[in-house]
Amino acid sequence: MILVLPGGAGLLPVATERGYNDVNSLFAVKPLARIFAESEGGEHQLKRTLGAWQLIALGIGAVIGAGIFVRTAAAIAERAGSSVTIAFLVAGIGCAFAGLCYAEFASMIPVAGSAYTYSYATMGELVAWIIGWDLTLEYAVGAATVAIAWSEYFNKVLEFVGIQIPYEWCHSPWETSATGGLHGYFNAPAIVILFLVTLLLIRGIQESAFVNNLIVITKVVIVISVIVIGWGFMNPANHTPYIPAATTYTTPEGVTHPFGGIMGILGAAGVVFFAFIGFDAVSTAAQETINPKRDMPIGILGSLVFCTTLYVLFSHVLSGVATVEDFRTAGKEASVAYAISKYMIGFGWLAKLVTVAILGGFSSVILVMLLGQSRVFYSMSRDGLVPAMFSEVHPKFRTPYKNNILFFFVTAGFAGFIPGDIVGEMTSIGTLFAFILVCIGVWIMRRKRPEIVRGFTVPALPLVAVLGVCVCGAMIFGLGWTNWLRLIVWMALGLVIYFAYSRKRSKLMLSGEGE
Ligand code: ALA
Repeated sequence: MILVLPGGAGLLPVATERGYNDVNSLFAVKPLARIFAESEGGEHQLKRTLGAWQLIALGIGAVIGAGIFVRTAAAIAERAGSSVTIAFLVAGIGCAFAGLCYAEFASMIPVAGSAYTYSYATMGELVAWIIGWDLTLEYAVGAATVAIAWSEYFNKVLEFVGIQIPYEWCHSPWETSATGGLHGYFNAPAIVILFLVTLLLIRGIQESAFVNNLIVITKVVIVISVIVIGWGFMNPANHTPYIPAATTYTTPEGVTHPFGGIMGILGAAGVVFFAFIGFDAVSTAAQETINPKRDMPIGILGSLVFCTTLYVLFSHVLSGVATVEDFRTAGKEASVAYAISKYMIGFGWLAKLVTVAILGGFSSVILVMLLGQSRVFYSMSRDGLVPAMFSEVHPKFRTPYKNNILFFFVTAGFAGFIPGDIVGEMTSIGTLFAFILVCIGVWIMRRKRPEIVRGFTVPALPLVAVLGVCVCGAMIFGLGWTNWLRLIVWMALGLVIYFAYSRKRSKLMLSGEGE
């Protein structure tokens, strides 16, 4: 059987046909029977309890975080001014196409898992490795980004009570203060929050629907309050012209981006795409959904439409209340609190409330991301692709504690020593790349394995997959060559590890077990 690889790489043998699964092939798939056996009658027997509304709440809880409260101001300042609203629309549309593909992918493999597990069972080991390695960028580097955002708002809370952490101890060495020419040493508060969340994870946490709902309500209330109260404080001059003329902007760290025009919007879409990351959590709940065929698209599209609407209104207000210059200088950090305190006279209490509540919201996003990370790495370890110690569980707490400890150091390295702009954009580009692979994969699987039963099927395939690839590709393009280079280096590092270590130790290959 042959497959034409997208990108014209040529014709390659594929070992995913029924009855033929050469375990020595790079495309060897992990047999479903084995996946079920490993989940030991547990995960694939998850109770079907979720309906459309719960799915929408799940999506909203996972996404609202640093993207809207921190990255939006960066996109306004460095990329698009008030046209950041259009960027949110582009990012939301890209997510909708990719999200539908994700849902079909998830519904093909009747166990709870991530894109890593689904691709191992359908597209083979190499693709699974690439996606797993890429998910590390999404979850670990994403958690580092949110920890940096947490640090900004934590500093603001301290400021409210008259305490200040010296600049050097809450910024990376690559950052320079807007005023005094100070350089950071490392970002201590970001490391502390990662440490605390890691302790919670090692101790073991019970996901509680009540806490999730409380956090969702708090986050949505904050966003709506800023929109409603801020609406009256918008200055039309800040929205003129709505799409700034195309030019460039060089950050204090010396990175130059296109600013304004179409490239500004595409770059901003790549930046604010961060605000949507996590909505794929909805698709991973396919096996817990009462009626996935109906509720999956409602859950995915519903949470996306809801969040996109809030994001567009919120960013319209934020860019209308404060100036681009504010977000390039004193309002660069804890930007929402800054804008409220400076321009929304009489609403100092709102700035305080938002700042304190956001800290809780950010902490829950960090927790969800680190948990996602440990699940993916745990699965990769059980498959022999990364060392076995990362799937060892703690004798008392029954959690993969060595895995949690490793990722504390990885995420603390990123959060402590690299600026938020860089880790945020790395997270976006990594996730966009994973989405593209999922869109292509679902299309290939529909053609190659039509017989696999799907709980949910993407309507209008291949159109939806092609549009997903195009819109996500456009955002990758907008993020610029520095980010492309980072993604290439990350993926190259992953391939070196795969060929030097993982491939020889793959349990699938060593077992010699075909389908
Ligand atoms: N979407 C999540 C956030 O914005 C990752 O924090």
